[in-house]
Amino acid sequence: QSVLRGTVALDGPSGTGKSTVARRLASELGAAYLDTGAMYRAVTLAALRDRVAVSDVEAVALAARSVDLEMGTDPGHPSVSLAGENVEHEIRGPAVTGSVSAVSAVPVVRELLVAEQRRLIRQSAEQPGGIVVEGRDIGTVVAPEAGLKVYLTASSHARAQRRTAQDAAFGHGTDLERTHADVRRRDNLDSSRESSPLRMAGDAVELDTTELDVPGVLAQLHKLIEQRGLLD
Ligand code: DC
Repeated sequence: QSVLRGTVALDGPSGTGKSTVARRLASELGAAYLDTGAMYRAVTLAALRDRVAVSDVEAVALAARSVDLEMGTDPGHPSVSLAGENVEHEIRGPAVTGSVSAVSAVPVVRELLVAEQRRLIRQSAEQPGGIVVEGRDIGTVVAPEAGLKVYLTASSHARAQRRTAQDAAFGHGTDLERTHADVRRRDNLDSSRESSPLRMAGDAVELDTTELDVPGVLAQLHKLIEQRGLLD
């Protein structure tokens, strides 16, 4: 069985199937897996628990500095812990989802988390097998050296449908119209913020997943990885 060498960066907006695809790809390639969105979500949860107003940039920055965040990078059991407490479920809830764009726009939050992401990538480079990292700015900011950068897209309608299915799977209430509006609102916030806006790296491959299912996307990714010679 072939094993990934180096870093694969998967970027793009929410609802493109990124998380599912990134995790399975990592499993199939014997690689580590890092969900950077979960890190922004965990910091958001910590701020909300501290009763910080997420519009208060100074207070959010202060909360972020004192966060004790630990990420597990095994694609079989990815985990997110705050001070040793597993918060994997809670960070997908509506309170965090509604506030995470504001928190992730704070420059200090991005500096702290990008440094931690680079540390985790370096750490995985010391082990056999590479790492699949998913987010918004992995190819542009976090790991510009990645051997493959893929930018996943899909129509906003398709993304809202997937988000709704995912919310239901996590046991959260769903409403397709509201979710569609939220997807568009977050797209705007994420691509218009000053610090690391969501944009495609110049050397990324764009992959439109509107008409593809998960195995279809995986097949494309495996092909690209092979073409780049990223397998040992
Ligand atoms: O992928 P997700 O929905 O879990 O991401 C949650 C939020 O975090 C989303 O609003 C964008 C932000 N994010 C970011 O700014 N940079 C990243 N590398 C990953 C996520």
